Amino acid sequence: MYDSFQRDINYLRVSVTDRCNLRCVYCMPPEGVKQLSHEEVLTIEEINQIINAAAGIGINKIRLTGGEPTVRKGIYKLISCIAKNNNIKDISMTTNGTLLKQIGERLKNSGLDRVNISLDTLKPDRFKKITRVGNFQDAWNGIETALRLGLTPVKINCVIVRGINDDEIIDLAKLAMDYPLHVRFIELMPIGESDEWAMEKFVPAGEIIARIEESFGNTKPSKKVRGAGPARYYTIPGAAGSIGIISAISDHFCFQCNRLRLTATGGIRPCLLSDREIDIRSPLRNGASYLELQKIFARAVEMKPRKHGISDKCDDHMKLMSQIGG
Ligand code: 5AD
Ligand code: SF4
Repeated sequence: MYDSFQRDINYLRVSVTDRCNLRCVYCMPPEGVKQLSHEEVLTIEEINQIINAAAGIGINKIRLTGGEPTVRKGIYKLISCIAKNNNIKDISMTTNGTLLKQIGERLKNSGLDRVNISLDTLKPDRFKKITRVGNFQDAWNGIETALRLGLTPVKINCVIVRGINDDEIIDLAKLAMDYPLHVRFIELMPIGESDEWAMEKFVPAGEIIARIEESFGNTKPSKKVRGAGPARYYTIPGAAGSIGIISAISDHFCFQCNRLRLTATGGIRPCLLSDREIDIRSPLRNGASYLELQKIFARAVEMKPRKHGISDKCDDHMKLMSQIGG
């Protein structure tokens, strides 16, 4: 599917739940999000029906997100249904990793190809502060499990927040020296919980790269690591993995945006940073056919904006990340 700006839209990010077993300070309020009722959330069958329709018109990569996708009941069934669709070439998941030691193997056997794991710190006490309830060792066990099971390439997402973990940029980057991990630094976005304070604690991508180059010498742009995302990758001589930068704010990459999002409640979102969405749940529950569902996708593709306006603060982006799926 091509949009109005000749971008090939082939990637669908699917939020399977708004719930999470952690409460990261930039993502959720301490008490968690107000939970959606069961009726509001798409069933596993409904998600699969929607993905099948999308796969019939050019979507060939699926990423499962949340909230935390590993806490969704029926996640194995969903993955195995998606894996049966011949049009889908890549099934990935964005997870906090804390449950992977227990369930990674079952996810892999269901058909999951690879994972991105969020990890903002290597210090257990700080991990607890950032996630409010999490345990560093659980996340680390998850990373080791993903490598052992071959859920590769394993990418690590680090959101850098000034005064919270910007002193760990080098230590986090070193993970890519020692392990075949692709460590991606993500600029903090003013969404949800961090809406009020993101700009004052914002660390621009340029500063992150400069600090890495100071320690490791000049980085070399690297060829793309498997995936569909907007990260720019760099290699460091002798490193087992690579370093990536996702500069959503300072250097927007909208011109190469290839994605749509499906929210847990059945909204198709043309752009992460705008609250505009098309409801696909109601038509589905009212008996829409496969072709009708595809028409709804085509409409969402037409609605994709040329670029977001987050730096000019002209967009509204009220929903929490956990409700959209990052
Ligand atoms: N800014 C940047 N990244 C965020 N994430 C969650 N909230 C934000 C935010 N405000 C990240 C998580 C995870 C991914 C799904 O999105 O850390 O890696
Ligand atoms: Fe959960 Fe991810 Fe939000 Fe942290 S950032 S609370 S792990 S959904």
